[in-house]
Amino acid sequence: MNVSILKRAYQSVQSAFPNAKPYCTVILGSGLGNVLNTCKTVKSLDYSKIPGLGNPGVAGHSGQLLLCKISGKHILVFQGRRHFYENVGWEPIAIPVYISLKLGSSLMILTNAAGGLKKKMRPGDLMIIDDHINILGSNPLIGNTDKIWGPKFADQTHVYDPTFRKKLSKAANRKQIPITSGIYAATSGPTYETPAEIKALCAMGADAVGMSTVPEAILANAAGMKVIGISCITNTVSRRNDKKLTHEDVVNSAAMVQPAIRALLTEFLKDMAANVSDSLK
Ligand code: HPA
Repeated sequence: MNVSILKRAYQSVQSAFPNAKPYCTVILGSGLGNVLNTCKTVKSLDYSKIPGLGNPGVAGHSGQLLLCKISGKHILVFQGRRHFYENVGWEPIAIPVYISLKLGSSLMILTNAAGGLKKKMRPGDLMIIDDHINILGSNPLIGNTDKIWGPKFADQTHVYDPTFRKKLSKAANRKQIPITSGIYAATSGPTYETPAEIKALCAMGADAVGMSTVPEAILANAAGMKVIGISCITNTVSRRNDKKLTHEDVVNSAAMVQPAIRALLTEFLKDMAANVSDSLK
């Protein structure tokens, strides 16, 4: 990973948002870009103005970085992400994590659209990520020599912070939003899974599958941030057996989940803002 690329990206955000003091970052995945329109946008910056980031090459990712305020506290919102399958190197994937760290954000909330592997999952379901299986065939920390990403061999016992997972689940209960939890498997993409791969993923213990999130979770955890993840289930295994899956289906189904994830994140962030000094260092 070329840290000078990350530094240049950070400097551009620092000069665009000179007074930013975010305690938390949210990365919004496919079709979820408008989920945090309940927050007041203080400033926005197009990804094209952040050197090294580039625009997400995928429909459903709008490519804006927002500095927002919720209950009087700053948060950073990345509307869209870069993916391993874009073959752009790790830097554009690491930049949101690096910027967050440098601006003092200590909680990373990762969202994604995912295929549901459990039989009872339905499009529109939400899943708190308990843990992940990395089957990208790579790892963003390969070749790392920079201290910002922690020790050479990063511990991953609790990539997704148990305390914050509980807080998220409580926020869902308060708002009566149905939610499950489970294991997210990340493939490299860009292909969707074959029926044999779906069987293999189920046998491995995965509950949902997608093409993102895990790289940012690995980096943020290694750098000492608290991480939580939410998968929005946009399609299911049973549906996959009789109908072809397209990215348009995924983006359209993500739109269906928007009200629930909006209500969940708004409730969670309001609660966090009220207690930020005792829950995060
Ligand atoms: N597989 C991989 N990625 C996805 C899927 C899926 O079924 N649905 C949404 N993103």
